[in-house]
This record gives sequence, structure tokens and C-alpha cells, in this order.
Amino acid sequence: MVSRARGPERFRVVGGARLAGEVRVTGAKNSVLKTMAAALLAQGRTTLTGVPRIYDTEVMSELLRRLGCDVTYDQQAATVVVDVPEVLGHKADYDLVRRIRASICVLGPLIARCGQAEVAMPGGDQIGSRPLDFHIAGLSKLGASLDSEHGFIVASAPDGLTGATVWLDFPSVGATENVLMSAVLARGTTVIDNAAREPEIVDLVQMLQQMGAKIDGGGTSTLTIEGVDRLSPTTHAIVPDRIVAGTWAFAAAMTRGDVTVHNARPEHLEIALDKLANAGAEVHGVEDGFRVVMDRRPSAVDAVTLPYPGLATDLQPLVMALNAVADGAAMITENIFEGRFVFANELVRLGAHVRTDGHHAVVRGLPRLSGAPVRASDIRAGAALTLAGLVAEGVTYVSDIYHVDRGYPGFDEQLRELGADVSREPDPDAAFEG
Ligand code: UD1
Repeated sequence: MVSRARGPERFRVVGGARLAGEVRVTGAKNSVLKTMAAALLAQGRTTLTGVPRIYDTEVMSELLRRLGCDVTYDQQAATVVVDVPEVLGHKADYDLVRRIRASICVLGPLIARCGQAEVAMPGGDQIGSRPLDFHIAGLSKLGASLDSEHGFIVASAPDGLTGATVWLDFPSVGATENVLMSAVLARGTTVIDNAAREPEIVDLVQMLQQMGAKIDGGGTSTLTIEGVDRLSPTTHAIVPDRIVAGTWAFAAAMTRGDVTVHNARPEHLEIALDKLANAGAEVHGVEDGFRVVMDRRPSAVDAVTLPYPGLATDLQPLVMALNAVADGAAMITENIFEGRFVFANELVRLGAHVRTDGHHAVVRGLPRLSGAPVRASDIRAGAALTLAGLVAEGVTYVSDIYHVDRGYPGFDEQLRELGADVSREPDPDAAFEG
């Protein structure tokens, strides 16, 4: 089981590590939940492989079970089998949806399959305002009527959905996914303009195509979808997690280490790896991934987060942590989630010189940070603080690591395998009762 079952825990991180060795990345968290939701679109058994052993997968499994699916999640084999009945339930309850924001992605498939859906408003990371207006506008364009009632989004399309042109104001990943998953079973043609181009969208498009959907333009800003009457179940291997792979790349550079990352796609991390090269790291391709070697203090690197193929917002805390120990000063601009800078306050507790102003942060690097108790505010902040602890003098305690467990299966085990002194222990000061 994942950590919530064990009660509040923290990481004890001893500073002064140089990470060296090999790690293997699993399928992407940001893909598995969407592809599990996509399984709802076809009656029968859909199999997903490369599934990460994380809390979110368990919550999504439970959510699909409550909709009437038979879900077998084999953590050892990294496989999920979703057996979807002909007649599905259409209500996704708050007690599950609030735990993972990505569960909002059942909205599109449920409207498409059932002609109705009631999905609780989601929770998820504390990283700023995360509205759903693009999802609602897009699904309305396809003919669904949507309302919010008692904390639920209540949607109906009793006569089915009809293809339309949907312009997204911003290339939102979640909105692109929801509109895409409803359009595949709509009557006629849907065009999604200004669509998100993330590799996880391409992964979803490929899975839907295997199920029989007619989609053109995956990985571009214009998706064209020709609706079909029904889809068939499939077997699909989840795309490797580029954010986890990127985290290991930054970990190697920050600790002046040498880490080979297997099952990773460097082409999904071009800007991030280029930043590391500018910081002074050597980045080499290997057969199924890449290797990052750093033999000196990193140089400061400016960074701007943008929709893919720009630098991922999920890697921004890692860039900030790297700059905290770099030679020089850097400007970081966060364009996706302003709340992500909450993390900067925790980094400052480790002695980092960071000043934020709106979307911008200026980081002046120090040779070493100074160990202290800190709190993870979201998944990536938790990973970045743990790595910052490795380049701090003394001991750092990272609380609220249930966030880290949501994105990084066995993070502490992998760090130990790379030579770090990181242990997991009960958190005596825990505010979270999980
Ligand atoms: C975002 C990231 C994605 C990452 C995921 C998990 C981007 C573009 N998306 O996806 O790469 O994997 O978090 O951390 O980097 N927005 C609205 N209205 C909406 C939907 C979104 O205003 O209806 C805004 C959001 O507030 C945000 C931006 O659009 O500023 C991008 O949101 P979106 O891509 O939908 O977020 P996620 O799907 O969570």
C-alpha cells in the first residue's frame, strides 16, 4: 500500500550526498489517470501497462469501481485491468474526487457514454487557482448542458453530443483531454483549436486510436476528431513519466553526481536538459534514456514555464532548487500556476536566497544550504525539498511526504540506491491526519 495507509510520515535527509547510479522510470502519473478514464469509453476489458505504484492510481481504481467497473490493479506487474460494464454509473463522489484533481477527467467520458454525469468539484495540489471554465465551455459547445449543484458539476446530453469547433483560450491539458474524450463518441466532426500538445495528450490520442477513434493532429495545436458509434477495449503501454525523469536529471546536476535514467524519453525534456547543459552538466543519450554527469558547482540558469514544448511547470521547483546552490543569480518566471511559489518559502527555510514578486522569482545561489524542517506543499515541491536537503549541511526533515508518494513511486528507496542517506519515519509534528 502507499503511505497514507501508514499514517503521517516524513523524510529524514542527511546533507552531503553525491547521487550516482541508475534509476528506472515508470509510466506517467499524468497519463495513467487519463487513460484509466478513457477505458470508460468502451465496454469490456482494457489493460494498461507501466502503471506507477502511486496513491492516485488506487483512488482512480476505486472511483471506476463505484461507476460499476471491475478494476484489478496489480502493483507488482504494474498493470491495471479495467472491465467496463455496458451500463455505467454516472456519479463520481466527492470523497474520491477531492483527493485527486485529475479525476475530473471522467466527466467527458461519462457524458459521452451515459448522456449524463455528476462529478464532484475536484481538489488536488495546493498550487493556486485551477478553474474548470475551459472544460465546461468546451463540453457545452458539443451540446452538453452543465451546471454546478451542491459541489457537483451536473452535466447532461440526453440526445448525445454533436461535433463542433472548440477554441481553448489557453492550451489546457485537462480541458483538451475532457473535450477529446467526449468528442470521440459525438456525432460528426470536432475541431479543438489551441489544443495542448503535451506527450501525455499524444499518449491518450494513441490509446483512443487503438480503441477505434478517428483523431488527427495529436501533438499539434489542432485536433480533429471524427466521432464514431462505439469504441473497443484495448491494451496500452503508458508513456514514461517525463517529470520523474526530469527530476532525476536535476538531482544529478544539483548533487554533482552521475545518474543514468532508464525508460526515459529525452525528446520530451529538451528544454529542461538544455538548461542543465547550460548549468554545466554533461547530458548523454543512452539506449533507453539519458545520463547526466556534473562535476562542478552548477551555473545559474534563467527559466520560464510554458505549455509544452516549453519548460514544464512541474519542473519549476527543481529549477529553483538547482539555482539555490548555483553560482550566480537567476530569474524564474512561472506562467502556469502562481501558487507554485509557495515552495520558495520552504526553500528559504533551508537558507536559500529567493525573492518572489508575482510570477517572478529571483534566486541568488549559495555554495550550500542549511538543513531544517520543511513541509511539502505539493508533489514536485516535496521532491525538490528532498533534493535540496541533500545539498544542505546537516539534517533536513521533509513533512507531508504523502504529496511525494503521489508522484514518485519509491522515491526514498531510489535515492538510497543512488547513495543518499534518506529515511522515512513517522512524523511527530504532522498536521495532516491521513
Ligand atoms: C497542468 C499542466 C500539465 C501538468 C499538470 C499536473 C500545463 C499547461 N499544464 O495540467 O503539464 O502535467 O498540471 O501538474 O502546464 N485553466 C483555466 N481554466 C480551465 C482550465 C485551466 O483557467 O478550465 C488554467 C489553469 O488555471 C492554468 C492553465 O490554465 O493556469 C493550465 O491548466 P491545465 O493545463 O488545464 O492544468 P492541468 O490539466 O492540471
